[in-house]
Amino acid sequence: MTVLVTGGAGYIGSHMVLELIRKDYDVVIIDSLEKGHEESIKKSKLYVGNLRDGKLLDKVFTENKIDGVIHFAAYSLVGESVKNPSIYYENNIESTRVLLDAMIRHDCFKIVFSSSAAVYGSPTTDLIGEDELTNPTNTYGETKLVMEKMMKRYEIAYGLKYVALRYFNAAGADLSGEIGEVHNPESHLIPLVLDVALGKREKINIFGGDYETKDGTCIRDYIHVTDLCSAHLLALQYLNNHRESNVFNLGNGVGYSVLEVVDMVERVTNIPIEREIVEKRDGDPPVLVASSQKAKEILGWCPKYNELEKIIETAWSFKKNYPNGYKEK
Ligand code: UFG
Repeated sequence: MTVLVTGGAGYIGSHMVLELIRKDYDVVIIDSLEKGHEESIKKSKLYVGNLRDGKLLDKVFTENKIDGVIHFAAYSLVGESVKNPSIYYENNIESTRVLLDAMIRHDCFKIVFSSSAAVYGSPTTDLIGEDELTNPTNTYGETKLVMEKMMKRYEIAYGLKYVALRYFNAAGADLSGEIGEVHNPESHLIPLVLDVALGKREKINIFGGDYETKDGTCIRDYIHVTDLCSAHLLALQYLNNHRESNVFNLGNGVGYSVLEVVDMVERVTNIPIEREIVEKRDGDPPVLVASSQKAKEILGWCPKYNELEKIIETAWSFKKNYPNGYKEK
């Protein structure tokens, strides 16, 4: 089976490519390399270009018999999306429209979509299920919700089948230590705190200390990137076997505060981490924790690396291997 992975050189995409290869799938990647890293891709065919380029997509679908698509390519920074909504509408929504049109033109009707907990906004329930009201608090989450709705409309119009996976906070790195989380500039909590441990940053700024949470800092549900990938493989199988669309949350069902994450990094690395409470970041919901019961029951998903300690250990191994990102080992 040949799978097209959009955004395959990104953080989650590159882990997905590796898992697909380990399971003997043929993999074709489209990535603009604007955010992605060519060095993170192992043994697969890469087309460099923008998803909004319909001609490039025609070339990809003509040169390869694509059986299914896993769609990661998107901008994904909550704070940036609030400050600059236009690029999120263009890069996330318009790209998806061009991709879906190309799929229909080339008789490809299966897509697994990288959605997000950000579609829910700021729910008040302890464990967020898929039936929770969707009410995004930032542009990023709104674009992910619109992309899901587009797939629904393409299902009605053309028979496209999709699985939207709404993930909570992807974290950690492949156990090989050879690929991991690299953003440029770094924006995500765990790699930033690890940079403090490496001495590359003086301290971690904690965005807000007076949220109504156990210690005043935001609570998130951290899920290992390899566990996310195993859910995508199951979603592909689900589309092959059941030929129906569905939506699943992916998380561990346990919330950790920002301070707990920083403390865990201290414990794993054995290095004291300087921290400072600063202004809240726009668009940040106080608490996001998943119920993934549905994915467990219907997809048979069983996360393996669900301890925060293990997640941080794998991220730390990668960081020590690539302290300056992929370019300079
Ligand atoms: N945080 C800090 N300081 C930092 C960076 C982050 O305090 O320097 C805090 C954030 O405020 C947040 C938590 O750490 O409370 C995690 O922040 P990240 O930036 O690592 O991740 P987000 O929760 O903002 O976003 C992630 C993904 C999104 C996805 C979202 C869903 O990046 O794509 O999870 O929950 F939508």
